[in-house]
Amino acid sequence: MLGDLPAGELGSGFVRQWPGTCSIERKYLFQMTTKIKRIGILTAGGDSPGLNAAIRGVGKAALGHYGWEIVGFRDGFRGLVENRRISLDRAALSGILTTGGTILGTSRDKPHRMVINGETRDMTGVIRNNLRKWGIDCLVCLGGGGTAKNALRLHRAGINVITLPKTIDNDVAMTDATFGYATALDIATEAIDRLHSTAHSHHRIIVAEIMGHRAGWLTLGAGLAGGADVILIPEIPYNVVKIADAIRQRSKRGSNFSIVAVAEGALSRDDARIYGIAQKKLDRAATLNGKIEAKHEIAALDVRHQGNTLRLAAQLEELTHLESRVTILGHVQRGGTPCAADRMLATRLGTACADLINERRFGVMVAARGDDTEPVPLDKVAGKLKSVPRDHSLVETARRVGTCLGD
Ligand code: F6P
Repeated sequence: MLGDLPAGELGSGFVRQWPGTCSIERKYLFQMTTKIKRIGILTAGGDSPGLNAAIRGVGKAALGHYGWEIVGFRDGFRGLVENRRISLDRAALSGILTTGGTILGTSRDKPHRMVINGETRDMTGVIRNNLRKWGIDCLVCLGGGGTAKNALRLHRAGINVITLPKTIDNDVAMTDATFGYATALDIATEAIDRLHSTAHSHHRIIVAEIMGHRAGWLTLGAGLAGGADVILIPEIPYNVVKIADAIRQRSKRGSNFSIVAVAEGALSRDDARIYGIAQKKLDRAATLNGKIEAKHEIAALDVRHQGNTLRLAAQLEELTHLESRVTILGHVQRGGTPCAADRMLATRLGTACADLINERRFGVMVAARGDDTEPVPLDKVAGKLKSVPRDHSLVETARRVGTCLGD
């Protein structure tokens, strides 16, 4: 039945399609009968606490439960191109559960737009050939929304891929949670706790900038848990006058200090309008030049936005006559030991990933769903952002305890 398949493919189930005249049934049979022997794993995009726990989860299940070999690629998709890999044997997986960062290293390189010797090239074909040459039956990619997009491209190019959702931003679509978020949430909450006493002592406004890219989960969570007086998230554009009013009201009630938790992506109403126009221009651009122009416009707005938190603090000082200070938490939120919740989530998703590989369920992300996990097709995840709904229960909760959301 399988006699006329290209001989080189028989040892590996990696290639889902091959040139020629094979029937769908034969491909299916081929997939079902070839045994997984070796899998690859990489971490891409920004690092986040829990990556090593996930590598260990996939690795231990692969080695111990299924008896496969596991190979780690260094620095994201670049390691696949430059053949930088390490064998993830038992020794390599030992002692990493509790460590921050990623033992594999990471990068934001994209397979289809990689800079090689100063030239931007599509390396998809190179990656496919390399994986075939090295006998990798499935590639596991640990990353956020951008990585899901890249993984989908590889999957469409005939590569068996599975992704796991990681990011401190918690903004990956179709999963209840991403590992890294719980740890970052603890760090940001503790920072807000600590800022309280100094803001109180000096009767100041302290504006704490929290990461999260274009989503407000981290700021909303830490602001709520830390008792910030004002929480500003990208999903709810703010009016600085309303924030100043809320702070003045607090002063009148005897609290002559305020903590403002602001997401790095939070926008004033005016800026949100300007971004909206630029985004519409991009969505409607009919030509490549039109698209490039609109993208440049958005990039220029992003550059201007970088000073937003400082500007906001200065505006609040002027409007309230309270001294203001800024604390930018930055990469502190991504560093260090993962908390227990992230270790558990990463291990759960990692072992579920091995089970899905065993079932040959490729082209999916392993999502967290309640106490369980669920494979979600990558095209339902790629390019989608999980934002905070304006009527989310945490938003309502914040309003109930009197937090100003800037609107
Ligand atoms: O996606 C994680 C994240 O930390 C975002 O919150 C932040 O906007 C971004 O990465 C920062 O990226 P980099 O580490 O490349 O500066």
